Amino acid sequence: MSDAATRPFGGLEAAFQAALAQATTAQALEAVRIKFLGRKSEVAAALKGLGALPADQRAEVGKRANQLKTAFEARLAEQQAALATAPARAALDVTLPGTALAQGRLHPVTRTMDAILACFVPLGFEIIEGPEAEYEYYNFDRLNIPRDHPSREHFDTFFLEAPSPQPAKGRLLLRSHTSPVQIRVMERRKPPLRILVPGKVFRPDALDPSHSFMFHQVEGLVVDDRTSFADLKGVLEQFLRALFGEDTQARFRPHFFPFTEPSAEVDIACRVCRGTGCSTCGQKGWLEIMGCGMVHPNVLKGVGYDWQRVQGFAFGMGVERIAMLRHGVKDIRLFFENDVRFLEQF
Ligand code: DAH
Repeated sequence: MSDAATRPFGGLEAAFQAALAQATTAQALEAVRIKFLGRKSEVAAALKGLGALPADQRAEVGKRANQLKTAFEARLAEQQAALATAPARAALDVTLPGTALAQGRLHPVTRTMDAILACFVPLGFEIIEGPEAEYEYYNFDRLNIPRDHPSREHFDTFFLEAPSPQPAKGRLLLRSHTSPVQIRVMERRKPPLRILVPGKVFRPDALDPSHSFMFHQVEGLVVDDRTSFADLKGVLEQFLRALFGEDTQARFRPHFFPFTEPSAEVDIACRVCRGTGCSTCGQKGWLEIMGCGMVHPNVLKGVGYDWQRVQGFAFGMGVERIAMLRHGVKDIRLFFENDVRFLEQF
């Protein structure tokens, strides 16, 4: 190529190359295209002005301008493709603050369950679980709740439609309490026993602020040859103080459960009004916390124990109710709606 032909574009290629190297975004690339190939660019002006050139230069300048135009277009296209496949590199700003990761946490019912279990483990209790789909035999019969006994009505129950794999053990149901696990353990083990049974239970209750058709219980059972009602009181009072604080007052109120005799309900002094009466305790000054009693001789006989030589106590409590009292939660349904605004508070 002659000097005359290259001179009009002297340094243009180097300037384009330098500008292209700087262009790391789509906008910058477009600015380079406008500058070097746009209507007001040197190349465009040269092509437009070809007619005014002397004939001997016209062909050379025209050819050179077209070469540059094609080469610039090709390099711009390459650079555009390179940017498109590596967008992150261009977009990464290491000085921006990071995005905080939301931290998960244990559900308040799980935490209360753990706190309850932790009170008993140092006393030598062993944690055992049992099935949620249960036979009538364990949920009722062996717990001294005969088929025609009116107390069955207190334990409204979800019966399962699946046929019972062991018809001799009655129909299948969703257990209405954790007490059947007492029977399952006593059937296969000899005293001494000291067990704790956490788990889900089910009752066909309509949902309201204090009822849910599924909730959690913790059951306890101690059997040996000398455990007395005094031991029951001592263990449960110590448990309630460990869970609710050293100054917690408890009272044992006579009650009826088919599987214990004598039976009691345990109340603690209302934590809100300290016993004087308020809306949390229904003006009673006391909050019912759990059921308990000495294991009924019929229950001991039913599992083949010598009821004249062994004795023991049992207790059962609702975990959601205790979680509500610990945290001042007024509606049990909040535990199951899984709204993070609620769960984040624990
Ligand atoms: N199973 C009872 C219920 O669900 C709670 C209970 C009361 C369990 C007394 C016990 C007990 O082991 O001794 O209402």
